[in-house]
Amino acid sequence: MQEKLNLIKDNAIEELKKVNDAQELESIRVKYLGKKGELTQILRGMGALSAEERPIVGKVVNEVRSNIEELIESTYRVIKEKEKTNRLQNETIDISMPGKKQFLGKRHPLDLTLESMKEIFISMGFTIEEGPEVELDYYNFEALNIPKNHPARGEQDTFYINDSLVLRTQTSPIQIRTMEKQEPPIKMIAPGKVYRSDAVDATHSPIFYQMEGLVIDKGITFADLKGTLDLFAKKMFGDKVVTKFRPHHFPFTEPSAEMDATCFVCNGDGCKVCKGSGWIEILGCGMVHPQVLRNCGIDPEVYSGFAFGFGVDRMVMMKYAIDDIRLLYESDMRFLNQF
Ligand code: DAH
Repeated sequence: MQEKLNLIKDNAIEELKKVNDAQELESIRVKYLGKKGELTQILRGMGALSAEERPIVGKVVNEVRSNIEELIESTYRVIKEKEKTNRLQNETIDISMPGKKQFLGKRHPLDLTLESMKEIFISMGFTIEEGPEVELDYYNFEALNIPKNHPARGEQDTFYINDSLVLRTQTSPIQIRTMEKQEPPIKMIAPGKVYRSDAVDATHSPIFYQMEGLVIDKGITFADLKGTLDLFAKKMFGDKVVTKFRPHHFPFTEPSAEMDATCFVCNGDGCKVCKGSGWIEILGCGMVHPQVLRNCGIDPEVYSGFAFGFGVDRMVMMKYAIDDIRLLYESDMRFLNQF
């Protein structure tokens, strides 16, 4: 028995010497000390021994057991220490290595242009208003004098959520929302995204940007409209720019006009950007229709005002001589990095 126990001990010592990691160590512990381990088996078999043998063998078994336990314990510490050293070695950072370059994003040309437009109007005392992109048909059309079946709806075919909800086709509904919640005087601009179910090509995108403007007060005339928008054009494109107003039609303004400015590239001589005409179309505008004022609870006998609307994408495309609107929405870094 004594011999057998010594053999178990020697085997355990031999095996422990070869252990490489905590997992192997654990299987050795199970092999010798576990419930079905070799020492445990011997302890179980002690019932068969005589009364004199039992305490002697028991003592030796316990000695061997605590020897093996101590050995496992010390081997465990050595393994842990080795693992730690390995980890520290593997995780060493060579601080002399070159870093990974972080690429900084760029402001989008739409954002840059919107910002300079906003700055000009803010300097003239305009506030900035916002409205929802999912808009009630009432605000997008009805209140702007575009009843159901009005031909203007055809030009602004949009995405209907249901009969009364649309993705807004223009920023003009923000005029209505502002007049409903605010007493005149009103002097606001409202930039934002608009949607139309247009097929995508070089000049059409189902999503684009507009910027709306609205001024309401006592005694506002077409002269105020011309003065404000002419000043805007000069601040935006340069002092030499000349503007002209052509009669037009919008259901929510009367009279209505479109404003052109002399081409900022050729100063009116005719070039590629202005397609040889010397003029570029800037915006739509007009005096707010009396019915639109009434729709918002504003008395047209007391107040008058003007409104205007830009296509921001067009401004960006003119400013940077971009000939395809799709470039503004494709997020191609080769394009965006140029700004
Ligand atoms: N909402 C018009 C459009 O999308 C643009 C516009 C024209 C806005 C005249 C106005 C305006 O406020 O007075 O075509």
